[in-house]
Amino acid sequence: MTNQYNKIFNKFKGNSEELIPILQNVQEELGYLSEESMASIAKFLRIPKSKVFGVATFYAQFRFKPKGKNHIMLCRGTACHVKGAPRILEEIENNLGIKEGETSADLEYSIESVACIGACSLAPCITVNEKVHADLTPQKIENLFKKKN
Ligand code: FES
Repeated sequence: MTNQYNKIFNKFKGNSEELIPILQNVQEELGYLSEESMASIAKFLRIPKSKVFGVATFYAQFRFKPKGKNHIMLCRGTACHVKGAPRILEEIENNLGIKEGETSADLEYSIESVACIGACSLAPCITVNEKVHADLTPQKIENLFKKKN
């Protein structure tokens, strides 16, 4: 089997200390860490698969499912929180039938939360594929996503 990760592995020496940068590179390339990619990394670094899984799951920056076609980033910063971000998240989850950190089975939607999306004066806000939706209310969320589940 030609290893699709060789292009990435070629940039590294194969030392186990390179695990995190390799995980980052693979995620950048694939958009997430598949089981197969983590198994290949383990082989390349000659470390147990369980070590790769253990390290990857420890860090919030890594995802284990592909992003949806519509990737929603919900701001959980202070300004947004105070102005009702938890209620907004609940509404999104209800409409899409998935939880934060998940991707819908049809790969249409995924939800992630981030520390701040830099539009605090427009709180509460989310981005959908980088486009900012500001000053949100549950009603606006419903109009945006209508019932998808
Ligand atoms: S706190 Fe939400 S955009 Fe900054």
